[in-house]
Amino acid sequence: MSQLSRSVAQVVTPDPVVEGAGVHLQRSIGTRKLDHLDPFLLLDHFESINPGDYKAGFPYHPHRGIETVTIVRRGEVQHEDSLGHRGTIGTGDIQWMTSGSGIMHEEMPQVRPEGIAGLQLWLNLPAREKMTRPKYRDLPADRLVETKLDGGANVRIIAGEATSQRLRGPVEGLAVAPKFVDVTLPPGTAFRETVPRGHTAFAYVDQGDLRFGPDRTPVHGPALVVFGDGDVVEVSAAAGGGRFLLAAARPLHEPISRYGPFVMNTRAEIEQTLEDLRTGHFIRDEPRDE
Ligand code: CO
Repeated sequence: MSQLSRSVAQVVTPDPVVEGAGVHLQRSIGTRKLDHLDPFLLLDHFESINPGDYKAGFPYHPHRGIETVTIVRRGEVQHEDSLGHRGTIGTGDIQWMTSGSGIMHEEMPQVRPEGIAGLQLWLNLPAREKMTRPKYRDLPADRLVETKLDGGANVRIIAGEATSQRLRGPVEGLAVAPKFVDVTLPPGTAFRETVPRGHTAFAYVDQGDLRFGPDRTPVHGPALVVFGDGDVVEVSAAAGGGRFLLAAARPLHEPISRYGPFVMNTRAEIEQTLEDLRTGHFIRDEPRDE
């Protein structure tokens, strides 16, 4: 059976937003233009060498019902949470946090000569897992070794399996079966990756000029590329090359009720979350670490 190449359904230019205590960033999922891409709820791109754009950071705040994935491209983010984790995520490091029933944390970009750059993605949890124990994965750069593929692409597999299952990322076993591949395409190279039919798939182009899909649609970063259905994603590099995150996951098809950092299925569950915060019942469990 021949494989269907996924065409480009939509190219979204990120919206500038100010988040946290005053961090300037580019948001492409979780906006008026694109509320969500089931099961992806939010995608933020922070990148600046001007401390005024990022130093205010994201002071202590709660999450419930989602997973947050933070990819640091450049610079350092100090992290601390209410359950005892504390550390620094630096260039190439990734933090994968399952908020489950509740976690409080802060994320503070450090002022450094190289500034800061990275992505944060929110992944929804299925209804049956929204109130599970928080779980925390630190994925340091040395666990995410870059591999050069035959087509010339340099890839880091973060989640799932890739390139005909020859490579496997450290994050596995999640309900929505995410596939996250961090791809750098030097000029003149190409990348091809299978994505299960029916799964939502997008590429976020941090920078550069790339061509996507069977029509070789040109995309200049920063931009979000949403794919239609099919079996395989095809990308090639234009003259300057570029970098993107390929993300795919099984959609949940469940109702979404969101209020700031909480994403539940019903309004009543959001009300309960706010009540839990007021009455000191928000933090329920110690997180599990990997
Ligand atoms: Co947060």
